[in-house]
Amino acid sequence: MKYSMKSTNSRHRYESELEKIRQASRWRFLRAWDGAGGVFTQGGTCYLNFSSNDYLNLSGDPALKAAVVDAVAEQGCGATASRLMSGNLTIHEALERALADLTGQEGALVFPSGYQANVGVLTSLAGPDDMIFSDALNHASIIDGARLSKASIQVYRHNDVAHLESLLRSIGLRRAVAGVSPVHSSSPAQHRIIVTDSVFSMDGDLAPLKELAALAARYDAVLVVDEAHAIGIWGEGGGLCRHLGIRPDVTIGTLGKALGSGGGFAACDGPYRDLLINRARSFIYSTGVSPMNAAAALAAVEAIVSRKSLGPTLLRRARQFQSMLADHGIDVAPGETQIIPIAVGDDAQVMTLAKSLLEAGLIATGIRPPTVPEGTARLRLSVTLAHDDTTLEKAAGILARVLVE
Ligand SMILES: Cc1ncc(COP(=O)(O)O)c(C=O)c1O
Repeated sequence: MKYSMKSTNSRHRYESELEKIRQASRWRFLRAWDGAGGVFTQGGTCYLNFSSNDYLNLSGDPALKAAVVDAVAEQGCGATASRLMSGNLTIHEALERALADLTGQEGALVFPSGYQANVGVLTSLAGPDDMIFSDALNHASIIDGARLSKASIQVYRHNDVAHLESLLRSIGLRRAVAGVSPVHSSSPAQHRIIVTDSVFSMDGDLAPLKELAALAARYDAVLVVDEAHAIGIWGEGGGLCRHLGIRPDVTIGTLGKALGSGGGFAACDGPYRDLLINRARSFIYSTGVSPMNAAAALAAVEAIVSRKSLGPTLLRRARQFQSMLADHGIDVAPGETQIIPIAVGDDAQVMTLAKSLLEAGLIATGIRPPTVPEGTARLRLSVTLAHDDTTLEKAAGILARVLVE
């Protein structure tokens, strides 16, 4: 095919920008897989997939597949319009009821993705007069939502409650806050929003949610918790907040990880839900999640509610894998979740290791900046319920050969 020569100069400039990305060992590319499960065969090689977020192995579950078939028969393949046009389907509302009950919130609103949920929530809650307090290791969708809101953003050191409190103390509200003197206020905010992942996506550690909830109450801040990596696993499936008996103002979640489907949601009280329906551009101006995805997610919630052992079993297996790694002499930090990072540091080195692991049949993605801070490249391993004892043992053996020997 012949392309027009019109943009040749621009194209060359983009090519040289791409070359710089490659030289910096930051090159990203797509690889096509025949399967997405925890273990699958492609081209005669059996791959152990430790990069999947299908934590509960529900994506291929017969109950989800059957629900999708029924939904397609009844409502077709697509929502066909934005929810506010004619795309609001009964299956969306049934899923929202189930997600609200699961998380212990009054209501829920399903978004086309978790990314869009975070962007929609933060841009609806905050504007130029407001202040967002965000953990340094929050997910990119939280960072993007905060930036798009045009609020002032205060990034507190990762899980550092004292740092967060010092920032909250130094920035008063426009109205008086009980027990807190606004004397040091530099630029008072109309609303204050504290936002955090509950389980951090690249480190697998837990946010100090009890302390954050106490600070939110004390400083009259709205608490938003992204439970993307905790829904389905902690708190009988409702997430880490539910496990700890905390009800944040807004719970964010994705349908694309433990729920084995695709889409996202915000669970919250009615007025917040109304605010999202009226303000969240990522909700208003996007086609509703497909009936297929909604049906699969609803079946996943039902599976999680009826099979209470899924989450605890996953966490037990992850600890089992961690001790297998330690037995093989692999240095892993103590962890509490299904996400197990192996620190490497150097970008080029992490990609070389990921390639060697792949050649040995283990999918373990190398994670580099800007996904993680500079100098902290790592292999991110995630254990799922598709990994039985033999798979875990095999994976630990491959990692030992590539990393230690
Ligand atoms: C913490 C966190 N929040 C939000 C998202 C976005 O969810 P989704 O993949 O549904 O867009 C992710 C996914 O990578 C995530 O890790």
